[in-house]
Amino acid sequence: MTTTATIGWTDPATGAPASATWRSGSGLAVPKKVIVAGDQMAADVAYRHALDGTALLWRGDFQNARQLLQAMARRIDHKPARTSRAKAVKAAKAPPSPLESFHLHRLAQSQRARTLGMLLIPFETDYTVPLRRAPDVRQACNEAWGRFDAPFVASLRELQGVIGAHEWRRKGVPIAALGAHIHPWYGVFSPIRGEYVQLVKDAPLPAGAGQEAFDIGTGTGVLAAVLAQRGVRHVVATDMDPRALGCARENLERLDLARHIEVVQADLFPAGRAALVVCNPPWLPGKPSSSIEAAVYDPDSRMLKAFLAGLAGHLLPGGEGWLILSDFAEHLGLRSRGQLLQWIASAGLAVVDRIDTRPVHPRASDAADPLHAARAAEMTSLWRLRTN
Ligand SMILES: C[S@@+](CC[C@H](N)C(=O)[O-])C[C@H]1O[C@@H](n2cnc3c(N)ncnc32)[C@H](O)[C@@H]1O
Repeated sequence: MTTTATIGWTDPATGAPASATWRSGSGLAVPKKVIVAGDQMAADVAYRHALDGTALLWRGDFQNARQLLQAMARRIDHKPARTSRAKAVKAAKAPPSPLESFHLHRLAQSQRARTLGMLLIPFETDYTVPLRRAPDVRQACNEAWGRFDAPFVASLRELQGVIGAHEWRRKGVPIAALGAHIHPWYGVFSPIRGEYVQLVKDAPLPAGAGQEAFDIGTGTGVLAAVLAQRGVRHVVATDMDPRALGCARENLERLDLARHIEVVQADLFPAGRAALVVCNPPWLPGKPSSSIEAAVYDPDSRMLKAFLAGLAGHLLPGGEGWLILSDFAEHLGLRSRGQLLQWIASAGLAVVDRIDTRPVHPRASDAADPLHAARAAEMTSLWRLRTN
């Protein structure tokens, strides 16, 4: 979802029009209005410009830009104290439904991203940032964005995401079920919630699964690695995203499991049938608002429905499909249990068993989170499915 376009502004020294290539790895639209900003700009002024949709092309010190961005974020996150009248009005209103809270939460998140995305910095062709006290971000940018043969302008916040991803990739995420680290790449779904990986480690393997299994939408390769560690001799792991394919191959080499796992680019299933077919599709129906969200949101439950619809055609007799899915979408009212059961039944599948686990991520116990009720009730399940 990389956006490239031309971004234009007026040079404050000469009054002449200037332009550069605009680049956004997460699909941010090119800002229409841009002014040049520097160390003298106060946070309140910067924040007002950003709210109005005016982007700030930074020419000052890099570290000052970082601090300015933090100051802008504080202004967004600071909730003004309610007057007693406002409190009374709120108390008289019916509380929002979980679905309304969810939509409000997504809206607030996208407004926050748009506002903070208004602070822009320049890059040279080799990803050097030509600003005072700028760090060397060349490796992080090359990993996330690949080669790019022109100087360009991008948002500082996006660069911070790229730097964060580089650190995750370098350090890795500890996966208890594997007894090892997985190193996610930028834009690839990171298995930070280990409980679903544990489900795949503990579920009883169906007969014949020791020979071959498929891992559909492998991401970092984490579930394929668990299956290989459990003794499955040959796993075919698929994904559509070239970054996921590269990331999975690198992780499996690192874990010394590559000889057991074939990583292939495929739309869902590879050719043939297996005794075990595992899939962890994105858990929420909805349109992703950036490429980073694509592993979380599944537009119109496309991947989930297509996996279920195609599963019977890829299972050996007596084989099992393992669907990993959280019921968070059900608690929010985005999908019903009845709908899921109906998709399973109309695909000619029966539920053999469902193994549930509670997520342990910190937000599940954060009562101040507007989605707390849904998060606290959330269950992650491994559905064992067979053909009828
Ligand atoms: C939620 S992530 C799960 C990744 C990994 N299996 C895990 O459990 O951590 C879903 C993955 O499915 C991939 N994907 C989405 N649509 C796909 C399709 N049609 N065929 C294959 N993979 C797909 C995405 O690129 C992403 O890597």
